[in-house]
Amino acid sequence: MALVEVNKDILAEELLRIQGEVDSGFDTFLPVPEDSRARLVEAMRYAAIGGGKRVRPLLVVATAEMFGVNRPAALRAACAIEAIHVYSLIHDDLPCMDDDDLRHGKPTLHKKYDEATAVLAGDSLHALAFEILSATETSGDPFTRAELVSVLATASGMDGMAGGQMMDIEADGADYDLHTVTRLQKLKTGALLGAAVEMGAVLGKVAPEGRAHLRNYARDIGLAFQIADDLLDHEGDEDKAGKALRKDEGQGKQTFVSLMGADKARGQAHALVDQAIGHLSSQGEEADLLRALARFVVERDW
Ligand code: IPE
Ligand code: IPE
Ligand code: MG
Ligand code: MG
Ligand code: MG
Repeated sequence: MALVEVNKDILAEELLRIQGEVDSGFDTFLPVPEDSRARLVEAMRYAAIGGGKRVRPLLVVATAEMFGVNRPAALRAACAIEAIHVYSLIHDDLPCMDDDDLRHGKPTLHKKYDEATAVLAGDSLHALAFEILSATETSGDPFTRAELVSVLATASGMDGMAGGQMMDIEADGADYDLHTVTRLQKLKTGALLGAAVEMGAVLGKVAPEGRAHLRNYARDIGLAFQIADDLLDHEGDEDKAGKALRKDEGQGKQTFVSLMGADKARGQAHALVDQAIGHLSSQGEEADLLRALARFVVERDW
């Protein structure tokens, strides 16, 4: 079997494995209390368990594994970043943002529950991420814990995901150029993907100067990931994606697809993935999972 196919099989197995592990992680982190907060925690479980590709968790674990980090610790960091991602989707789907009714093939949180519960479930998942990272079970080393918190906080806030979401909203009616759309995408989506790789390296105690190739890899797949999402919106299959598609244009979103058309955007995404894999050229087969993940980012249909 060709090497690429072997890696695809490994990737499929690893995705299934991480999906199960993240589900059981959230099951443990989110016991439903026997008081009037039950609705909140049930809603958090509804959004966090049993859906999503878990690409960010797999990036954490795949990177951490390259540096010999024990899997339970890496899985805690993986759940932390996925908690941020799930919260970002809950808020992204709200009527005041993208106004979506379907996520992961089921009603969005505010449709299943209500808007107030969706806001609070997002808030609580946001906080949960940092509760997990700052606990000694994640790392016995306080410097490592602080660095994990710092990396994820920076990637989540105004210099990361939330900042990108603001630019995304402001795009409607504005005239963004490619440079501005690139910055938007890097913040909205690239920052968290970058944090996933960085957190794996932090757990592995890789010094910042030894992380450059990993950061470059993550920067390129981060941008490619959002281009692929925008291509899915343009031409994907809703049943496979599990969310409403063909909405970006009507909502005035500015993307690589709106600026350069689908074909050029696809070419750009593939070029970014080649470039990302190129950044790993000094690594051996221990980086095969990261290479396979990079391909998956642009070849996925969900
Ligand atoms: C969707 O992210 C939102 C973007 C940042 C593009 P994913 O495609 O990772 O969402 P799930 O969790 O796998 O559904
Ligand atoms: C969302 O981007 C990025 C986030 C930070 C949540 P999109 O709005 O394009 O994601 P989908 O298409 O709803 O998953
Ligand atoms: Mg959005
Ligand atoms: Mg959206
Ligand atoms: Mg989208």
